Amino acid sequence: MAYQASPTFARSPNECRGSDHQLRFSERKGSGTGAGSPLSSRRPSIDPCRLVPMDKTMHIGGSDEFNVLFIGAGNIMFGSPEGPWNHSFRLEHKLGPRLKVVAIIDPAIERATAMIQKKRDSFVVSAYEKTRVFRTLDDFVKNMAPRDRPRAVVIGSPPMFRGTLQPGRDIEIQITKHFPGVPLFTEKPIATGPQYEIGDALAIAKQIEETKTICSVGYMLRYLQGVQMIKQTIEENNLTVMATIARYACAYEAIAKPDWWDKSKSGGPVIEQGTHFCDLSRYFGGEVVLSSVVGHSLEFDEKPGHISKMQIDESKIAPENRISRITSATWKYESGAIGVFTHCVALQGTNYSCELEVYADGYCFRLVDPYVQPILYIRAPGEDIEKVLRFPDDDPFFSEISNFIDVVEDVEESPEAAVILSSYEDACRSYQLTWAIREATERSRAGRLPMRNGIEAKAL
Ligand SMILES: NC(=O)c1ccc[n+]([C@@H]2O[C@H](COP(=O)([O-])OP(=O)(O)OC[C@H]3O[C@@H](n4cnc5c(N)ncnc54)[C@H](O)[C@@H]3O)[C@@H](O)[C@H]2O)c1
Repeated sequence: MAYQASPTFARSPNECRGSDHQLRFSERKGSGTGAGSPLSSRRPSIDPCRLVPMDKTMHIGGSDEFNVLFIGAGNIMFGSPEGPWNHSFRLEHKLGPRLKVVAIIDPAIERATAMIQKKRDSFVVSAYEKTRVFRTLDDFVKNMAPRDRPRAVVIGSPPMFRGTLQPGRDIEIQITKHFPGVPLFTEKPIATGPQYEIGDALAIAKQIEETKTICSVGYMLRYLQGVQMIKQTIEENNLTVMATIARYACAYEAIAKPDWWDKSKSGGPVIEQGTHFCDLSRYFGGEVVLSSVVGHSLEFDEKPGHISKMQIDESKIAPENRISRITSATWKYESGAIGVFTHCVALQGTNYSCELEVYADGYCFRLVDPYVQPILYIRAPGEDIEKVLRFPDDDPFFSEISNFIDVVEDVEESPEAAVILSSYEDACRSYQLTWAIREATERSRAGRLPMRNGIEAKAL
């Protein structure tokens, strides 16, 4: 059956390619705080045609140096075999010879130094020839020459060291104290500390908002062309979302970081990685009524929770800190719509299996495999067959960095202005949702335990 482009649909990737719209966007210069005030619109969006991959974008012209400070020299900053993330690589492509990484803050001095050496041995040497490594931000500030003042700070340290007001875990506050007004790009999740510290994260969000600091949080899936096509179709047809159904099944065999398996360190897999899909659910469904969240989990000590290819020694983790194998939750959005979410620690191999469905009257949008080969299936009113859109060269990691830099460089308010899709305050709400899910499953488990113990006691 032929797909009818009626009612209005977002353009397919092919229809976008080569459009003069893309060219205009790439050539645009100037600066604007329009996008720098992401809180003015709680759910900003971008024309999917403007989300162009690295090799098809035009570099920002000019010769002025663009100083960047890196916090953390780990996988997100310099890449790892497990995935396509690598902020330094995207910044190099976005800024070209303008990029100057003034310093890297990382207590693992050797790791950071080795990363810089690798860059100096490559064709991007000009960005790193003067990069210095410091154990702490204070050390950098004490030794900083005025010409090294950063124009932007990219934070990729572990979340247990950020997102609070506690000394040593308050890097956002420290940065805004030493470099007021300097834009921040920070990774998700915004924190992983105990739930009672969420108030600290909200206080940071308030400070960022009050000081009008540009801040983008690394929920890169919001920048997928497929996600923006769903958004555009919803907006253009004035649709009301009825439900979001998200499934995030990781490939646990490939996860060898002991901290990831320990919820006292990582917060657990929903807070650490499922957060991407909780965030996307909110992006479409709106605010969640946190008190409505109910959930269940399958735990390591239940028979179906036994998994055979774990790469770490789980016996070294206290039983109460071991992660759930399956987490399942539902909730009401403030709009009345329903959210459904399942996280699975069940697959082996390396590829994750992730799908998000968004329902509205007559429509089902189904986003499949957003990490590797994103495919969007759209079922529209009057159709029994889904239209299939593929995005083979989409790069949301580049799009989020590219938009962040465009926002930092822009000063004019313009309908064409770049936008940040995930503000710090919005990311706090996603963090709250993931905590509400964890709490709901732990509550339900606590309620089940006396029953289970009773059954076991009877069996004895
Ligand atoms: N968006 C994505 O898909 C994606 C992918 C990977 C990682 N991440 C996120 O990036 C963050 C970092 O993850 P990673 O995989 O790079 O971790 P990592 O362990 O590989 O690297 C973290 C680095 O930070 C350093 N560090 C520790 N404490 C620090 C401190 N107080 N100040 C500065 N540096 C400090 C460590 O020494 C290490 O070099 C996490 O929040 C993670 O969730 C996101």
